Amino acid sequence: MNKQTYKFSYSSTDYYLAYGFSHLKKITDPKATVLITDENVYNAHVKRFKGWYTIVLKPGEEYKVQATVDAVIEKLIEMEADRKTTLVGVGGGVITDLTGYVASVYMRGLRFGFVPTSILSFVDASIGGKNGIDVGVYKNMVGIIRQPSFILHDMIFLNSLPQVEWENGFAEIIKHASIKDASMFAELEKNTLKIYQGRQKSICELIQRNVLIKTRVVQKDEFEKGERRLLNFGHTIGHALETQYELLHGQAIAIGMTCACHISEQLTGFKQTERVVEVLEKYNLPTYASFNKQKVFDVLKMDKKRVRKEMNYVLLERIGKGVVKTIPLRQLEKIIAGL
Ligand SMILES: NC(=O)c1ccc[n+]([C@@H]2O[C@H](COP(=O)([O-])OP(=O)(O)OC[C@H]3O[C@@H](n4cnc5c(N)ncnc54)[C@H](O)[C@@H]3O)[C@@H](O)[C@H]2O)c1
Ligand SMILES: [Zn+2]
Repeated sequence: MNKQTYKFSYSSTDYYLAYGFSHLKKITDPKATVLITDENVYNAHVKRFKGWYTIVLKPGEEYKVQATVDAVIEKLIEMEADRKTTLVGVGGGVITDLTGYVASVYMRGLRFGFVPTSILSFVDASIGGKNGIDVGVYKNMVGIIRQPSFILHDMIFLNSLPQVEWENGFAEIIKHASIKDASMFAELEKNTLKIYQGRQKSICELIQRNVLIKTRVVQKDEFEKGERRLLNFGHTIGHALETQYELLHGQAIAIGMTCACHISEQLTGFKQTERVVEVLEKYNLPTYASFNKQKVFDVLKMDKKRVRKEMNYVLLERIGKGVVKTIPLRQLEKIIAGL
C-alpha cells in the first residue's frame, strides 16, 4: 500500500496505489457518493458495487458525448445529488473523462475521484485532469482541466479486461517510453505482454512507473504550454485516424507514432524507427496502414495543437527523448502526403 499526494497548480491528488477497491469507503462516504461506470465493468464486478449508488452507462467511445453528460446530470438530479456529493468514475478512459467532466460542471463543480479499470485509464486517462467529450468527429473538443481529488488502484479489475484492451493500453506505455524513458523502452523490448499479464508484480511496477512519468510531466506543465505537449506523441495523426476508421485509441496512436517516427527522420534526424515499430508490433499493435491522407489531414487541421497556420508536432530525437517542433501546415501536408 502506497499513498502519495501529488500537488498540481491549484489542487492536489491523493494516489492510493495498490490499495484495493474496498478502501474506497474510507476515502469517500458511500451515502454521499455516486459511482459512474459502464456495463462491461459493472457486469464483471457486480459484487464490488454493492452498497454504492451507481450509474451504469453504455460502453464505448460513441457515448463520450454531450447527450450522455445530459443523461447523467438528469440521473444526478433524480438522485438528489448536491454539492457535497462525490462522483467516482470506475472504468476505462471514456468513463473517467465523462465523470471528471460531469463533476466539473454539475452545480459548478463536485469533488471527484477515479478508479481506473483499463490499462489505458491506469497509466494515462485517469491522470492529469483532462476531462471532456467528443463533438462529431472532433475528439475531446470540449472539456476542462481539473484534477481529481483521488485515484485508487485495484489490479483485480484487470482480470476481466479483454486482450485487445490490454494491447490498446500498451500503446500509451510505449508512448511514455519513447518520449521519456529509454530504460523502460528496453524493458518493453525484453519482455512480452504475456509476462506482464502473468506476473502481478511486473504489471503493478510498470503501471506505477507510467503513472509517475505522466504525473511529473503534468506537474511541470498542467495547462500544456510546453512539456505536456510531449504526451501527444502519435496523437495528431492518431486522433484523425481514430475518427475516420474503426480503430481503438491505442491502435490509432500506434499508427500515429509510426508516422511521427518517419516525420522525425526527416526533421530531427531520428534513426530508431525500426526499434519503435518492432516494439509496437511485439505488443500486437498496428504500425503501417494505408489511409486517405487528404481526409486525415483535413481533420488533423482542426487539432487542438494547431496554432493558426502551424502545428506543434511531437517528434523523437532518439528513443527516450521527445521534442516538440512547430511545422507549418503546408509543409506538414506535403510530408503526410509523402508518407
Ligand atoms: N483524460 C486524458 O488525459 C486521456 C488520456 C488518454 C485517453 N483518454 C481517453 O480515454 C478513452 C480511451 O480509454 P479506454 O481505452 O480505457 O476506453 P474505454 O473506457 O472505452 O474502455 C475500453 C473498453 O474496455 C472495457 N473495460 C474497461 N475496463 C474493463 C475491465 N476491467 N473489464 C472489462 N472491460 C473493461 C470498456 O467497457 C470498453 O469497452 C478515449 O476516450 C480517450 O480520449 C483520455
Ligand atoms: Zn492517448
